[in-house]
Amino acid sequence: MNMTNAHAQRRTSDGMVDLHGHLLPGIDDGAKDLEQALNMARLAVEDGIAVSVLTPHHLNGVYTNTARHVRQQLARFRDRLFEHGIPLQVLPGTECHLVPELPTALAAGTALTIADRNQAVLVELPVHTVPLGASSILEDLLAMGLQPVIAHPERNRELIGDSEQLADWVDMGCLAQVTAQSCTGRFGSQIQNAARRMVCDGLIHVMASDAHRDSRRIPQLSAGREVVAQWASPETASLLTEDFPRALVDGRAVDTAVLKDTLPSRKGRLASWLRRLRA
Ligand SMILES: [Fe+2]
Repeated sequence: MNMTNAHAQRRTSDGMVDLHGHLLPGIDDGAKDLEQALNMARLAVEDGIAVSVLTPHHLNGVYTNTARHVRQQLARFRDRLFEHGIPLQVLPGTECHLVPELPTALAAGTALTIADRNQAVLVELPVHTVPLGASSILEDLLAMGLQPVIAHPERNRELIGDSEQLADWVDMGCLAQVTAQSCTGRFGSQIQNAARRMVCDGLIHVMASDAHRDSRRIPQLSAGREVVAQWASPETASLLTEDFPRALVDGRAVDTAVLKDTLPSRKGRLASWLRRLRA
């Protein structure tokens, strides 16, 4: 790894940053009520998460959470965290469904960017397909100066078996976020294998919890971080859980060039695969 660059990025880190979670109570399929939301925040702190970007669904055909609404709900939740003495920094965000009207919504300010920085936007694909025109919408976002962060590509049925499409998007300038529980095997071996391949191919830049509840789908990054440290390296795990998401919430560019040097070589990956096969 290029230690100078990596160190330069890491100096700014101070705890893990969870870029994707549904903690805001009662506004989507995440936390059901305030009590559950507070429990989730406590779990995040216990896990070593310092910052959580709260990202309710938007434009997915079920939930509409405009920028104004999310900001208001976040301000209320921040007050509740303070009252309960929970030291979790929360920032506004939205998980935006990748629909043709998304660029217009972002330009009009009715959909939120990550941490309200107008630099990057968390985008969600359908579970089963990559919709026609997806690349063109991503190009439009990039042309607007917004960097798309593709949420959990390892859980998309089309991308699971073929990460070439994801590689094309990353070449275009997009980033991608793996879900921590995909890495730990919570969603099954097929998704776990896809996550491993994408991480080791350098197609993943952020690990997030995508937490929905205070049990099972919880705000936890540490277990996934350990898995990534074994798949790739401890440096990769740090970049994905600290440095890169921290840059995004601070509104700084993500220096993706440092990622490659932290990943195992193809030769090393083959040797590790053979070792696992013989074990
Ligand atoms: Fe989500």
